Order: sequence, then C-alpha cells, then structure tokens
Amino acid sequence: MRAQSCEALVLVNEEEATGIRQMRVNLPAGQPEPKAGMFYMLRAWGADEPPLLSRPISVHRWDKETRVLTFLYQVKGKGTEKLAALCHGDRLSLTGPAGNGFPVEAARGKRVAIIGGGIGVAPLLQLAREVHPVAARVDFLAGFRDEVYRVDAFEPYCANIYVATDTGSFGKKGFVTDLLDTEKYDLAYICGPEIMMKNAARLCLAAGLECYVSKEGVMACGLGACLGCTCRTEKGEPVCVCKDGPVFEGSVFYG
Ligand SMILES: Cc1cc2nc3c(=O)[nH]c(=O)nc-3n(C[C@H](O)[C@H](O)[C@H](O)COP(=O)(O)OP(=O)(O)OC[C@H]3O[C@@H](n4cnc5c(N)ncnc54)[C@H](O)[C@@H]3O)c2cc1C
Ligand code: FES
Repeated sequence: MRAQSCEALVLVNEEEATGIRQMRVNLPAGQPEPKAGMFYMLRAWGADEPPLLSRPISVHRWDKETRVLTFLYQVKGKGTEKLAALCHGDRLSLTGPAGNGFPVEAARGKRVAIIGGGIGVAPLLQLAREVHPVAARVDFLAGFRDEVYRVDAFEPYCANIYVATDTGSFGKKGFVTDLLDTEKYDLAYICGPEIMMKNAARLCLAAGLECYVSKEGVMACGLGACLGCTCRTEKGEPVCVCKDGPVFEGSVFYG
C-alpha cells in the first residue's frame, strides 16, 4: 500500500493517564485505510519549525464507518509535546499508512496471546479487533510500571485479560512475562520496551509458539527512503524497520 500525505481534522485530544494521550482525528475520504500494526508520520508544526522530523505513531484504532482514526501516545519530547497541544478543530499533517502491519491471517483458528508493555499497547487494540473474528481465542496480557490504561477497551475482543504492574498497584505484581503460560497458546503478538519484547519472544520461541514483534526504531522519513531506521537482525543482516517492518517474526531478532 502506498503511503499518502493529508491534513486531518482533530476531533479529540485528551489525557488518558499521566503523560498518555488519546487523539482522534478524521481521516479524509479517499485516503487509504490502515491495518493493525501500521503507523503514520505525524506533524503538527511547520516545515521550518523544530523538531525537523515528523514523529511515527501507530494506529490504535480505525473505525471505517466514521473514518475516525485514533492514536494513543506518550508525551516524551518536543514532537509529542506539540501533538499534545492540539485541540478540537486543529489540523494535523499525516503521512501513511506506513509499514507492513501484523499478519492477522496467521491467527486463523489459533489460540492467540496479545502481549503489551506500557505504551506498546498502542498498536494492539486494532490488532485485537482484527484478530478476534478469525482466532479460536484471544487473550490480552498487559504489563505497566504503575498506572494502567486502555485495558478496558480490549474487553469486547478478548476472552481473558491479565494485567501485571511493577509496583503491584493493579493486577499481579511483576512483569508481563510472569502472566504468560505458553502452553495455553499457539501464537503470540508482542509490542513493548525492547527488553520486554526480547524476554517474551524468547519464552514463546522456546515453547514452539509462532510469534511476531513490533519493533521501534528512530525514524526520519518513515517510508524506506533514507535508511535512517536500519537495524541488524540476529544474523547480522540489515533491515529497514519502517519498510520491512515494523512487524517481524520474533526469530528474526530473538531466535
Ligand atoms: C513504528 C513506530 C510506531 C510508534 N508508535 C507509537 C505510538 O503508537 N505511541 C507512542 O507513544 N509512541 C510511538 N512510537 C514512539 C514515538 O515515535 C516516539 O516516542 C516519538 O517519536 C518521540 O518524539 P518526541 O519528539 O516527543 O521525543 P524526542 O524529543 O525525540 O525524544 C524524547 C525522548 O524519547 C526517546 N525516544 C525518541 N524516539 C524514540 C523511539 N522511537 N523509541 C524509544 N524512545 C524514543 C528519546 O531517546 C528521548 O529520550 C512509535 C515509534 C515507531 C518507530
Ligand atoms: S525512516 Fe527512512 S528508511 Fe526508515
């Protein structure tokens, strides 16, 4: 699918948890529809204003009928601070949808674990919505440092939801990997901090589960043109996170 650029109207941009915001925009008619695991390069500032680069943010939810596209993002630095300042009626520049997305058909008839850590839950809601009709069962396993967010949004699409927090403020005290009983699943989709993805993917692979991870990379163009997001696989081969990914088979990085 070819990424396109457009201006979208901001409908809502509200705080979801401390430093976490949910923004809903109207995707103009004629723009290609996104799939789970794809992302957009977002820009809410002029070409001559810092920061120089647009910021990659995943599709959190896509509602085809209303053409409402939802992003869930953590405010980290200059770019996301500028996104956080947007109000209802403001315009936002989008380029996308970019990236390969999650292989949803791989889940057909299978027992699926969707595993998220922190803001890594962002691309997983749309994934749960797309996987739910084809999988035999979908469970959501989520880990957070302390504050828990967006877990209730997964309820319509998941048979079971398990939560862990580092502090024990909610759910089980510990890491999301402590929630994972690999015998219960055939396939896992994982997104979160690098260390969490590595540990979760290695557990899954050791138990013979099919597994997919959504990698992060520092992006400049987001379209496969600048090679700025190149990183090396387990075998040392270079891959472009924005074009070859961001979703890869777990064994590509953690085999
Ligand atoms: C394909 C893809 C999809 C993404 N989807 C989401 C999403 O749905 N929601 C979301 O909140 N974030 C997402 N991110 C991460 C997001 O793009 C960065 O947090 C954002 O670009 C930071 O920009 P900034 O200007 O606010 O911060 P900066 O000023 O650029 O950086 C602030 C701090 O954040 C760190 N940082 C910057 N970029 C990254 C990164 N890519 N990964 C880890 N740390 C980083 C910097 O090292 C620095 O310490 C995604 C990244 C990729 C590559
Ligand atoms: S960000 Fe330019 S090639 Fe990936």
